[in-house]
Amino acid sequence: MFESGIYSSRRTELKKLVGSGIILFLGNKNSPRNFSSMPYPFRQDSSFLYYWGLDFPDLAAIIDVDKDEEIIFGNDRTVDDVVWMGPDTPLAEKASKAGVSRTKSLPELNDIVAKAVSEHRTVHFLPQYRSDNLIYLSDLTGIKAKFLNKYVSEKLIKSVVSQRSVKIKEEIAEIEKALEISFEMYFLAMRLTKPGIYEKDIARSIEGIASLKGAGTSFGTIFSVHGEILHNEYYGNLMKEGDIALLDSGAETDMHYASDITRVIPVSGKFSERQKDIYNIVLDSQLQAIGMIKEGVKFKDVHIKASTVIASGLKELGLMKGDVDEAVAAGAHALFFPHGLGHMMGLDVHDMESFGEDYVGYDDKVKRSNQFGLAYLRLAKELKSGYVVTVEPGIYFIPALIDQWKAEKKHPDFIDYDKVEEYKNFGGIRIEDDILVESGGAKVLGKPIPKTIEEVELVCGK
Ligand code: GLY
Ligand code: MN
Ligand code: MN
Repeated sequence: MFESGIYSSRRTELKKLVGSGIILFLGNKNSPRNFSSMPYPFRQDSSFLYYWGLDFPDLAAIIDVDKDEEIIFGNDRTVDDVVWMGPDTPLAEKASKAGVSRTKSLPELNDIVAKAVSEHRTVHFLPQYRSDNLIYLSDLTGIKAKFLNKYVSEKLIKSVVSQRSVKIKEEIAEIEKALEISFEMYFLAMRLTKPGIYEKDIARSIEGIASLKGAGTSFGTIFSVHGEILHNEYYGNLMKEGDIALLDSGAETDMHYASDITRVIPVSGKFSERQKDIYNIVLDSQLQAIGMIKEGVKFKDVHIKASTVIASGLKELGLMKGDVDEAVAAGAHALFFPHGLGHMMGLDVHDMESFGEDYVGYDDKVKRSNQFGLAYLRLAKELKSGYVVTVEPGIYFIPALIDQWKAEKKHPDFIDYDKVEEYKNFGGIRIEDDILVESGGAKVLGKPIPKTIEEVELVCGK
């Protein structure tokens, strides 16, 4: 945990932002794997961690804004619990570490919420993404579980987003710790990858480091010779000479801050000339995008810049044609770069996305496009100092998408489909780093992980 003052001042600020009513936070429960006493590894809710810091199951908390009261709800272990799980610190002692002096048992929360509802007071809560908490909140409020997320507090969501988006130095230090783990994961992957072994050998080996050095991975590891499948979690391919393997992975620290990095590894240790050509376009796009980032710049404009560098590089290779700016405005480059440039990162790898992407990445000034490709951009709004974002452009050759666009004769003025056919078995390349937005520029967080062709080849096979 951070020191208690950090949590207290976050709650004080939240009270000011929300203004009135009761703010209700539900911590997560253990999720059963086969039955209730055999759970998956516990992961606390990120907003609960942000305001209360307590990383244990079966907790809830309220801030009564009008009465200026803060209470944490939970149950101390019974002797029966102690027999199976051992003794535990009493809740009151845990709460004091978060700067909270009042605790109550969980059943008492029902009475408090029921009273607030009967008095027509506003009970603010965040969108719920776990079914058990939907049922619990339904019991507390009397609202049917399937309708609950229609009653979330927009005021609370916007307030939490405004606070969690701007990272303090202690949070940056945690993210850098996660990146320290990523650094080791990438070195190991580059060293171990070789022809004749399975993707799974690498994916599971590096996940061992994430578990050993922190709280495991921050999302499902992507390691595949089919890098063109954007969120590919299949590891069954035997790697062979000439393949390139895309590794997109992240670590989580013990305090649950994330990292999110992507590199592409030549299986034989060296990239081919054709692979180098595409790799260097993606690298150029990533570096130019990072170079543009600073407070006040719209991330959508950074995405457009990255797309323009990609379109221009692909034009040089003969895969695209025509006016580059017009091609990007029309969305023709999205055949090769169909996703957004990046997202916020923090306690969640896609920070706060359980609230709804538009609350985090868009605002009154920037609305989501419905053009293919641009529509997937998770973050578009103006950047502020203290945001941590990923920058992750890519070029992919997705056979099904190529076939579809070709059959539909999409953007014939900007795409040379005969040339594209020659690359259909290429796979995909993405390069991703985690960036701190500053007032006058951007800082790439973490110790540099090999990124240029020369740097990557130097580590491969060592
Ligand atoms: N693999 C998820 C991401 O990079 O956003
Ligand atoms: Mn990633
Ligand atoms: Mn990412």
